[in-house]
Amino acid sequence: MKKVIKSDLKKIYQEEMKKCSDAVKDGKHPYHIFTFSSIKDKKWPEIRIVVLRDFKFNPNVIYFNTDYRSPKIAQMKNNNNCCALFYDGIGKVQIRFHAKASIHYQDSIAYEIWKKTALQSRKCYMGEMNPSSEIQEWHPNFPITYLKKDPKLEHSEEGFQNFTCIKLNVIETEILKLYHDGHVRFNIKDKILNFIAP
Ligand SMILES: Cc1cc2nc3c(=O)[nH]c(=O)nc-3n(C[C@H](O)[C@H](O)[C@H](O)COP(=O)(O)O)c2cc1C
Repeated sequence: MKKVIKSDLKKIYQEEMKKCSDAVKDGKHPYHIFTFSSIKDKKWPEIRIVVLRDFKFNPNVIYFNTDYRSPKIAQMKNNNNCCALFYDGIGKVQIRFHAKASIHYQDSIAYEIWKKTALQSRKCYMGEMNPSSEIQEWHPNFPITYLKKDPKLEHSEEGFQNFTCIKLNVIETEILKLYHDGHVRFNIKDKILNFIAP
C-alpha cells in the first residue's frame, strides 16, 4: 500500500510553489491565471479570473493588477479576507490560498509595477467608464483610437490614475493533488503542514 509522509508533502508543496513562481512570466502556464474571490456583501461571495503578476515564496505573497474603480476594490476595502484558487489540469493539482488583501494605489509599490507594465496592458486602465458598470451600447472602455494599436508611452501614463496593484498576503495554503491510488491533501499554516482528508 502506498504510504505518504510529511516529507512527501513538503516536496509537493515546494514543487507547487516553484510552479507558481514560474507561471508569472509564462503566459501558457496553468497557474498564469487564477480565480480570485472576495466578499461582495454579507450574503454573496464574488469570483473572477485575474492574471498572476508576481509570486513570492515563504511567506507566500500573490500579486495581480486591477482598476481602482472596479467593484472588487470596494469589496476588499470593506473586508480584506479573500481566496485565490489555482488549478493545474495536467498535474491534477488544486491550490487554495486564504489571504488578506492589501490595495496599492498611487503609492511607490503601484508605481514600480506600473513602470514595467506594457503599453498594451496600460490601455486597459484608460477607460472613461467604471469597469463593471452598465452601458447603453458596446464600448471597449479604452480610447477607440487604440482598438488596433497601443498608446504612445506619454499618453499611456494617464492610465496610472486607475492602476492598482493588489498584494495577497497568504495566511493558509491548501493543496489537493489527485492520484489514481489515493489523493493527497494537506494545508500549510504558520509553516506547519497538516494532512487533510481528501
Ligand atoms: C483571462 C482573463 C484575465 C483577466 N485578468 C484580469 C486581471 O488581471 N485583473 C482584473 O482586474 N481583471 C481581469 N480580468 C477580468 C475579471 O475577470 C473581471 O471581469 C473584472 O476584473 C471585473 O471584476 P469585478 O467586477 O469583480 O471587480 C480577466 C479576465 C479574463 C477572462
